Amino acid sequence: GAAELGPYRHYMQKEIFEQPRVIGDTLEGVTGIMPELFGDGAYKVFKQIDRVLVLACGTSYYAGLTAKYWIESVAKIPVNVEIASEYRYRDSVPHPNTLVVTISQSGETADTLAALKHARSLGMEHTLTVCNVATSAMVRECKLAYITRAGVEVGVASTKAFTTQLAALFLLTLTLAQVNGRLTDEEEAAHLKAMRHLPVAISSVLALEPLIIAWADDFARKENALFLGRGMHYPIALEGALKLKEISYIHAEAYPAGELKHGPLALVTEEMPVVTIAPNDTLIEKLKSNMQEVRARGGQLYVFADVDSRITPGEGVHVIRMPEHYGLLSPILHVVSLQLLAYHSALARGTDVDKPRNLAKSVTVE
Ligand code: G6P
Repeated sequence: GAAELGPYRHYMQKEIFEQPRVIGDTLEGVTGIMPELFGDGAYKVFKQIDRVLVLACGTSYYAGLTAKYWIESVAKIPVNVEIASEYRYRDSVPHPNTLVVTISQSGETADTLAALKHARSLGMEHTLTVCNVATSAMVRECKLAYITRAGVEVGVASTKAFTTQLAALFLLTLTLAQVNGRLTDEEEAAHLKAMRHLPVAISSVLALEPLIIAWADDFARKENALFLGRGMHYPIALEGALKLKEISYIHAEAYPAGELKHGPLALVTEEMPVVTIAPNDTLIEKLKSNMQEVRARGGQLYVFADVDSRITPGEGVHVIRMPEHYGLLSPILHVVSLQLLAYHSALARGTDVDKPRNLAKSVTVE
């Protein structure tokens, strides 16, 4: 009811603003990297595996895609990420030394549960879930678990569940790296410090809301939008596009920016807003030339740039500066601004934000 919402207009907005706290809750008590954080016997399992298979749906699938970038880069273990509804029905090549990771807010998604059973039937016994509901079927079915502490999520469009999943998956990344001999004590300390700083860092992204509201007024008048990201921000572009289409009904697509020239550039006109995630990483110069390709066709750029990425606003180039450059954890900050953009675009269009048409919070049937 209204009392529960406090100063917020919708559960989605409230849940977006809860993120500093629930990420703190999810990482509470993590004073060091220890396999047992994932359950009894986790060390033995992590020692035996030499690859990871992630199974998930929807927003949780995009958390898995982000984790692939992290795990392959930091822990040096190969990762496959599969959409649960596809995996369960296709012929694949199983490998017994696989850590099967399901990601699910509800822990009751029928396709993800079926994909898990399918993986087990193929002889893969090492199972772990990142899940928000401790009493769910998913937690019962998996040997290992990390319970995110997002609390109850009411908005159909997932927000705080996603960022807490990412926090848990980053912890899994560090743990696999440690077991794999890839994490020095200094690196562990530096990563833990960055994780502890997340609540403060997210709060400063939330403070960008007034700037994002101004952009949302432009978006509300469009019927299409394109989201670009590169590297570990590509899954965040996908999630940003998903949020926008789910609740505002604006058609949105996401592309890794380098792929622009292979198709989507044909769609770019003055009518096409192009949201660009521009962290100051090794791909920034390439991203800038992708942006020029968009401008040359009249596309309107809406850029979330890091403080130090030297992208200047100008004709057709709108820039919001992210408060800080956040290294590997940057996807967790960038997605928060995209959540706010989707929320305020939907608000401006007057859609039913918390209960978008045709969608359900938890899909427990196929
Ligand atoms: C539904 C929800 C999405 C969610 C997906 C997977 O489609 O509307 O927000 O990402 O299910 O749900 P899960 O509970 O498995 O994360």
